[in-house]
Amino acid sequence: MSVHHPDIKRVTTHIIQEMKNRGEKISCLTAYDYSLASIVDAAGVELILVGDSASNVMAGHETTLPITLDQMIYHAASVVRAVKRALVVVDLPFGSYQGNSEEALRSAIRIMKESGAHAVKMEGGLEIKDSVVRILSAGVPVMGHLGLTPQSIYKFGTYSVRAKAEAEAQKLLEDALMLEETGCFSVVLEKIPSTLTKQVSESLTIPTIGIGAGPHADGQILVLHDMLGINKEFKPRFLRHYADLSTIMHDAITNYVGDVKGRSFPNEKESY
Ligand code: KIV
Repeated sequence: MSVHHPDIKRVTTHIIQEMKNRGEKISCLTAYDYSLASIVDAAGVELILVGDSASNVMAGHETTLPITLDQMIYHAASVVRAVKRALVVVDLPFGSYQGNSEEALRSAIRIMKESGAHAVKMEGGLEIKDSVVRILSAGVPVMGHLGLTPQSIYKFGTYSVRAKAEAEAQKLLEDALMLEETGCFSVVLEKIPSTLTKQVSESLTIPTIGIGAGPHADGQILVLHDMLGINKEFKPRFLRHYADLSTIMHDAITNYVGDVKGRSFPNEKESY
């Protein structure tokens, strides 16, 4: 459970809203474990998402579908224990909210109670409105997610850019307005044309957070392991690599292997 640090001002959904109001961009990243979440938090991002991308980057699954509610709670609780400042948002995983609004509320309450997180994120528009309303009515902040919604990958068939056609763009805008009207505090826009992001962001009063959605979103999010270059096979056009940790880690580990085999580790100073 999170510990209160009286000297650190926590980021709340209200602070995220104020940032949009004054035109300040919102920085967000994913995290799934204690050690990396504490680095991400200390570096100053406003929002940490415990994404169901944990299914890919932590567990090695091809899609986000297999990760369970229990597994999401485990990752979220680890992140919450590390975070002193950022707002921690947790993905409701596939199958934990689409069935009916009662099940959705039960899932959201488990996340809030068992992890100590501050909000949940859900993929979809009108189809999940009842569940969004029910969760919000229990006082749980909800972040929407539109555009490329990876939990529906088998419906889309590909991870290509969404809402290029006029009808899909119009539906996305309507869904975004509906999510704002129901009381969501923010909406993620994934892999949609930059011009649509601009239109949605200007139409909404709540902040939009983009990934592969161009520069006009009110904030940006990336998957931590992708932007750090830990996972180098995934290189879509929207991704910027801020480090090449894969090479750094590989070199460190091969040096260690060499030192062990060459008997130079541990030396006298490293022994008792
Ligand atoms: O699961 C995730 O990491 C996400 C982000 C890509 C927005 O939903």
